[in-house]
Amino acid sequence: MNTDEARELLRQWDVQQEAYVAHREQRFTVMLETIRLHLGTDVRVLDLACGPGALSDRVLTALPGSTVVAVDYDPMLLEIARGVLPSNRARVLDVDLVAADWGTHVGDEPFDAIVSSTALHWLSQQQLLGVYTSAARLVKPGGLLLNADHLPFLPPAFQAVAERHDAETQESGFASGALDYRAWHELAYQHPELADLRERREKRFADRLPNPKSPLDLHLAALRGAGFAEVSTVWQYLDDVVVAARR
Ligand SMILES: C[S@@+](CC[C@H](N)C(=O)[O-])C[C@H]1O[C@@H](n2cnc3c(N)ncnc32)[C@H](O)[C@@H]1O
Repeated sequence: MNTDEARELLRQWDVQQEAYVAHREQRFTVMLETIRLHLGTDVRVLDLACGPGALSDRVLTALPGSTVVAVDYDPMLLEIARGVLPSNRARVLDVDLVAADWGTHVGDEPFDAIVSSTALHWLSQQQLLGVYTSAARLVKPGGLLLNADHLPFLPPAFQAVAERHDAETQESGFASGALDYRAWHELAYQHPELADLRERREKRFADRLPNPKSPLDLHLAALRGAGFAEVSTVWQYLDDVVVAARR
């Protein structure tokens, strides 16, 4: 798919995702600033579950010396990411994070930072532990892992506030013209090269059942257990957090 078409789909993806994540751009900024201020701008970054390349694209723009390895398991989103990301600075790889050996498919060179956004909630608790354990092996000593997601951790009354806030964010996003997740996919399938990938995509995800979201405490404990030395949140808006870990 050509760059212009891929970029237009990414633009519409961003509008769609912003209807689900109220302060998505700000949480991207926090992730990029944490990398820049801790590690500088000449960094090798791994983007887990990259989708159409939203976060990888921002890494390449904000961190001028950076290169990216972007992985996902959705063949359609990978095709768009390949159109968006420049091949001289980014490798886009077909990787299933559920597979125990996924870490062996991203090359031998260690990473300065591993990032992920709005994605690891797809994993069961066991799979999440596996991903963090492999990530700890893939990142250099002193390197970072940053994961942004809605994670349940607030007491019930405040969790209910977070859920009402999400519902209002979606309502106003869709009222202003954002497509929902399903409608965005239908739009993407209008491109013949993406329509050809529909069957493969649907087959791949057919047996993946949604998992209950792992709470923040579990993320923090799993990262410590995986061998990260310093583990914290670096940003929070209601139940939306950026979890940060230093190897
Ligand atoms: C809501 S999207 C987020 C994409 C991107 N990180 C962003 O913030 O725009 C969730 C992503 O997780 C990916 N994903 C789900 N299960 C996966 C798996 N087992 N392995 C790799 N990627 C997976 C989906 O294909 C999708 O791209």
